[in-house]
Amino acid sequence: MPLVGTKEMFKKANEEGYAIGAFNVNNMEILQAIVDAAKEEKAPLILQVSAGARKYARPGYLIHLVKAAEEDSGLPIALHLDHGEDFEICKSCVDGGFTSVMIDASRFPFEENIKLTKQVVDYAHSKGVVVEAELGKLAGIEDAVNVSEADAKFTNPEQAAEFVKRTGCDSLAVAIGTSHGAYKFKGEAKLDFDRLEQIMKLLPQGYPLVLHGASSVPQYLVEKCNKYGGKMPGAQGVPEEMLRKAASMGVAKINIDTDLRLAMTATIREIFVTKPEEFDPRKYLGPARDAIKEVVKHKIKNVLGCSGKI
Ligand code: G3H
Ligand code: 13P
Ligand code: ZN
Repeated sequence: MPLVGTKEMFKKANEEGYAIGAFNVNNMEILQAIVDAAKEEKAPLILQVSAGARKYARPGYLIHLVKAAEEDSGLPIALHLDHGEDFEICKSCVDGGFTSVMIDASRFPFEENIKLTKQVVDYAHSKGVVVEAELGKLAGIEDAVNVSEADAKFTNPEQAAEFVKRTGCDSLAVAIGTSHGAYKFKGEAKLDFDRLEQIMKLLPQGYPLVLHGASSVPQYLVEKCNKYGGKMPGAQGVPEEMLRKAASMGVAKINIDTDLRLAMTATIREIFVTKPEEFDPRKYLGPARDAIKEVVKHKIKNVLGCSGKI
């Protein structure tokens, strides 16, 4: 099966009340772990590559690995550019074989975000590629500490409706309280589900919404990192029940990167400390791959609800 777009995936996910996992890929081991997990769970899959990952792996390398994984697994896989910051990188990924791109112009004022998003949509659609855009700012740990600050940063439902109508983007990443990385909340974790509901009400029925910053930062992984020399006090993610609720409400795509990084790092740290004589990279990258696979399987089965949905 060739790499696929996300339209059909999102439609079925919305109708059946689950979400598709979008997992970030940086290298071969991470990619294999994700694809093996999805294959065992018979789950549809979005593999996403950030600008940083593309630069790190060098343009072209990851797409070949993804094609190999797709041929090997036979899964429906979409290849997505995560957080494309300008027209050029989106165009380059569209031209290079990605089936979905994100233009993240959320740092710009509303009208500029619309203008740049529309430019990407027009180009991508002419090549049969779908586009994710973003409106609102993901809160950092210091951000959105009170209601008026949250209101200024989180996605405005009326603006979301206007934005989708004017840009023609195929999915929209919304800010409702999640943030990137391992330090998401100070104190109680809280997502603005009322806002999410409002946004859904004002958009066309079943319109695909995306949640970035959706790692749950499992304590066992943080503790394992810290046990073997890591220093991650206060790491905190989005509770899994909140993600399940978002998926069942109709969020179509849930982005997870940090939890895979944690699984990989915790495993490698443990091996470096407990087997200091080891120097064969396969002896620590292999177990790291296994650990990532377990995390992805858990997400698919217990958080996203997309097991058996291919
Ligand atoms: O949303 C960001 C992703 O976790 C990718 O991060 O830009 O460090 O590759 P990165
Ligand atoms: P996390 O940092 O919570 O894994 O979020 C990843 C993400 O949003 C990628 O776009
Ligand atoms: Zn993101």
